Amino acid sequence: MKIGQTNYNIYMNIRQKAYQIYKKIEDSDSYANLIMHKELKLISVENKPFLTNLIYGTIRNQYKSNYFIEQTAKRKIKQIDKELLQILQLGVFELTETNAKKYAIIDEYVSLANKIRGKERSGFVNAILRNLQTGYPNKRLDIRYSCPKWIVNELRKSLQHYHKVDKLEELLKANDTPPNTELTDLSTLESRSTNSTELENLSWNLIVQDSGSLEIAKSVINSRKTKNGENWLDLCSAPGGKGLVLASYIKNNNLKIKLTLNELHPHRADLIKQNLSRTDLSNFATITIQDGIKFNTKEKFDRILLDAPCSGLGSIRRRQDLRNRSRQNEIPSLIRLQTELIQNAIKLLKPNGILVYSTCSPILEETTKIIDKTLNANPNLSKIQETQLWTNESNTDSMYWCILKSK
Ligand SMILES: C[S@@+](CC[C@H](N)C(=O)[O-])C[C@H]1O[C@@H](n2cnc3c(N)ncnc32)[C@H](O)[C@@H]1O
Repeated sequence: MKIGQTNYNIYMNIRQKAYQIYKKIEDSDSYANLIMHKELKLISVENKPFLTNLIYGTIRNQYKSNYFIEQTAKRKIKQIDKELLQILQLGVFELTETNAKKYAIIDEYVSLANKIRGKERSGFVNAILRNLQTGYPNKRLDIRYSCPKWIVNELRKSLQHYHKVDKLEELLKANDTPPNTELTDLSTLESRSTNSTELENLSWNLIVQDSGSLEIAKSVINSRKTKNGENWLDLCSAPGGKGLVLASYIKNNNLKIKLTLNELHPHRADLIKQNLSRTDLSNFATITIQDGIKFNTKEKFDRILLDAPCSGLGSIRRRQDLRNRSRQNEIPSLIRLQTELIQNAIKLLKPNGILVYSTCSPILEETTKIIDKTLNANPNLSKIQETQLWTNESNTDSMYWCILKSK
């Protein structure tokens, strides 16, 4: 067999594999990274980077690719055969965002379409991909950064609020750049970057955590001087990242503080249990499984962390499929949940208690607007500090948190 032929076959197989994995991700409700984690275990080391880049790149660029496909096909995405569309999305990404040789790539995706959907339909893939070479529209920000328009608008509104609207493009670019994985060392409560080899066998004192998340956990610790005998609650705790930081602080400083880590879903509470056990912290926290809206005990708390369920739009760079899966009409129900959680958290606070409300979203409805409403309805509360991180400025997720104090 000629060398050229061998390469062709390898790459054909690799694209076919990419298609199978991408299809699995698209057709399921699971997170892309969970499926990728499983699938990549079965792929040879030399093929992993190509597949990872092709699949995650296709996911990141899906909105942009769909726009082009609609323009060229002169029909709505919903009217296009699902399997052909998935092949096209892979092809459009590779043709427009990588240095691959265009004609060879087109042939490969056409052959793939032929295999999957037959010769007649593969002609459609051929026509779209060949047309693609005539140019690529990139004037609109949502298209250029492959970020649905409603998300761009929400980010714009939030940046406007902080007088940073001129940074919108910078933010969209940062959201398009997959981050290095960061670790928190629980023995020092410091953050650092890591590589994939270290991740395969993490030592007991290390957890994967964005440094923005570490900042939030530290804001609970540093909100004022800690006294022995305090009672702390993390109301929405799973998988436990910030709770582990709190527990480590208690352990490392030999403090007598009671820490409760609460979670609604039992299967997610199991993750907290596993994480406490792996990091040797099981004796420093108690897990409860309750709805945070109704969470009720006789005791009150000196400090509460409410790391609320949210749209997650501050962690777009990390969660590649989020931008495609998020729906604007899901935001109002999240806001209702966040409001009810904060109302209950206030009831659980002792006088002079501290409540840290946080989200991995910079969307105003989920952040400052909730806090403003809460302060208006509760004159006994005051705002101590409010922080909005931006991915383009701090190279963290765009995290929000607000420290509140009760009278
Ligand atoms: C943003 S995550 C928390 C992340 C966590 N603090 C950490 O650092 O690892 C929000 C969590 O709230 C949980 N949750 C959702 N609704 C809840 C409710 N009504 N009461 C308590 N927890 C809830 C979700 O299952 C999810 O695990």
